[in-house]
Amino acid sequence: MPSRSMAKAGRAFTTALKRYQKRVEQALDACLPAPTIHPARLHEAMRYCVLGGGKRVRPVLVYAAGEALGAPLDQLDAPACAVELIHAYSLVHDDLPAMDDDDLRRGKPTCHKAYDEATAILAGDALQTLAFYLLAHSPVDAADPHAQLRMVGTLALAAGSRGMVGGQAIDLASVGQELDIAALEDMHIHKTGALIRASVLLGALAAPDTDTERLEALDHYAKCIGLAFQIRDDILDVEGDPEQTGKTQGADASRGKPTYPALLGLDEAKRLADELYDNALASLEAFDERADILRGLAHYIVKRSS
Ligand code: IPE
Ligand code: IPE
Ligand code: MG
Ligand code: MG
Ligand code: MG
Repeated sequence: MPSRSMAKAGRAFTTALKRYQKRVEQALDACLPAPTIHPARLHEAMRYCVLGGGKRVRPVLVYAAGEALGAPLDQLDAPACAVELIHAYSLVHDDLPAMDDDDLRRGKPTCHKAYDEATAILAGDALQTLAFYLLAHSPVDAADPHAQLRMVGTLALAAGSRGMVGGQAIDLASVGQELDIAALEDMHIHKTGALIRASVLLGALAAPDTDTERLEALDHYAKCIGLAFQIRDDILDVEGDPEQTGKTQGADASRGKPTYPALLGLDEAKRLADELYDNALASLEAFDERADILRGLAHYIVKRSS
């Protein structure tokens, strides 16, 4: 692509990213119980963990995948909020002393530091159930009458023991070990890839008449960026600026976590993320310009500094 068209595509992506981020921020604010509602401290903690921070990559993927296939935006708000609520809950529990024992998240004290451990556990639990409540109670007007049920099933599978939670269990069991590349990939695919993949699929499920071929192409895109996302996260843990990541730098190494940079070195980890980016783009070849945001997102994921 000539550099002027690239600059134009970059600007269009940034505008779309901000638009989707703003949209989901508003929808999240509206779906979370007010901090005054009983039990107030729990509701306050839930809002603390979800609002005012985070890149919102997973909801943006819901919107971008849905719009690439012609789904109406207002059908995408519930699945967009649902994936972010599951993600926010996973972060709250990930930061607990029994897991990664982190003090900083999104540039603020982690939930158990700002509140207490029991409140953080309960806030995570409640965010998870709120996600499924939203999916169940926001009618989807897709051509497939079972789309709503399939969304619930897709998100449940991705969030549970065969997805994110399973990945977290593998992560904890791997501390202090040197995993080989296949085992590391398996861990990343579960703990981070599964929810990213579900985000793309939920967007696609809200669209009418999506053929299997396009669904499979999108799923391949999602698998590539899902793995690339966690590789980039591992890289940022080594060389990221805490002012930008909002997290403590070097936490993985100090806890003996197996990561891509630890196993392969930074350069090889970056090369692998670039290769996954190329593969992600290749899987979108049959899509028109409505998939440009997905293309931009793949680039954003492998190059991000926060
Ligand atoms: C961090 O996710 C945890 C991982 C799964 C790598 P994000 O990097 O998406 O965190 P936020 O939502 O932007 O804070
Ligand atoms: C977390 O991975 C993945 C989750 C499912 C939350 P990390 O433990 O590497 O995420 P950060 O670095 O704390 O955000
Ligand atoms: Mg972790
Ligand atoms: Mg962590
Ligand atoms: Mg990390």
